[in-house]
Amino acid sequence: MSGHTTFLMWNDQSIEEAAQLLRAQEVVAFPTETVYGLGADASQEDAVAKIFQAKGRPADNPLIVHVAEIDQIARYTSTIPIIADKLIRAFMPGPLTVILPSNGTIATNVTAGLSTVGIRIPDHPAARAIIKAANLPIAAPSANLSGKPSPTSAIHVFQDLNGKIAAIFDGGTTGVGVESTVVDCTGDVARILRPGGITRLQIESVLDQVVEEATSDQDDAKPQAPGMKYTHYQPEVPLILIAGDQHFFKQKIIDYQREGKKVGLLVSEELASLLRADQVQMCGSVADLSTVAAQLYQSLRGFKESDVDVILAECFPEEGIGQAIMNRLKKAATSIIDNRP
Ligand code: TXA
Ligand code: MG
Repeated sequence: MSGHTTFLMWNDQSIEEAAQLLRAQEVVAFPTETVYGLGADASQEDAVAKIFQAKGRPADNPLIVHVAEIDQIARYTSTIPIIADKLIRAFMPGPLTVILPSNGTIATNVTAGLSTVGIRIPDHPAARAIIKAANLPIAAPSANLSGKPSPTSAIHVFQDLNGKIAAIFDGGTTGVGVESTVVDCTGDVARILRPGGITRLQIESVLDQVVEEATSDQDDAKPQAPGMKYTHYQPEVPLILIAGDQHFFKQKIIDYQREGKKVGLLVSEELASLLRADQVQMCGSVADLSTVAAQLYQSLRGFKESDVDVILAECFPEEGIGQAIMNRLKKAATSIIDNRP
């Protein structure tokens, strides 16, 4: 579509308006607790096609189906394995997506022809109210243009998709900031296909088993989240991950500036207080990695094409939500310079 995008402010009437648009097979962006989603009726191929069109998303990358209540999950699956049931009860609503065997009722372009379906219940009052009012399963990828960081505010959605979708529902800034954890529950052991808002440790403690993590190696014979093969969140200039202390960072900044390059930093407030560069995007505190997750995409979006020639980004500890943060940063990065002992 090329036309007018309605901006909806959050109230009872706008919830109903958003639901009506979804029932009319239109595409509506709405907030979830992770990032903004781009929703459409998951039972209608034509409605779902509009999502792929607006995002410029490859057709072989399946979408997550969003529902409002746990008892709605069984409508779209042939079985709910025990591991899935445990995870659903522990973490839904919340930033978790379970991959389950599909019963074929969802439109085939949602699942990209796979025999599985990804389902989640967003833990956001506006998202759940809209889904409930629409009374439909809602297919929703993150509401960014393909290749851009996921949107954590309605402004980000506007920047990417104004004129391309029917409406943007403004629910403020999202809380978690990185996407849901995608867990394949179709086998004997759970496999994390994408680290996210629910940590590996949380999943292992509920399942009482060691959980596998998928690699992004696409030659692997095991099924992966198809989305993992695409480049993600690639900024317009090279992003280099720096694993090292503040002295090493300082040296790298000087090195690049001597080459005549303008240097941007994507670092925690702790490191930002110790360094100078041409542009600094602060993203949270290493003392609380959830603040880094919450601000990561906004900080990435903060670098504009002309501002800097290279972005140097901090490596965060890969524990807890840090696994999701580093997964996204590695996808955004062109290289890593590791100076740790
Ligand atoms: O937090 C989130 O999950 C956000 C909000 C909007 O809910 N959504 C989101 O959707 O991140 P998207 O489309 O940007 O990412 C979904 C990921 C992709 O990597 C996709 O390949 C994978 O989930 N996926 C979806 N269905 C799948 C399936 N049946 N099997 C394997 N992977 C699947
Ligand atoms: Mg996405």
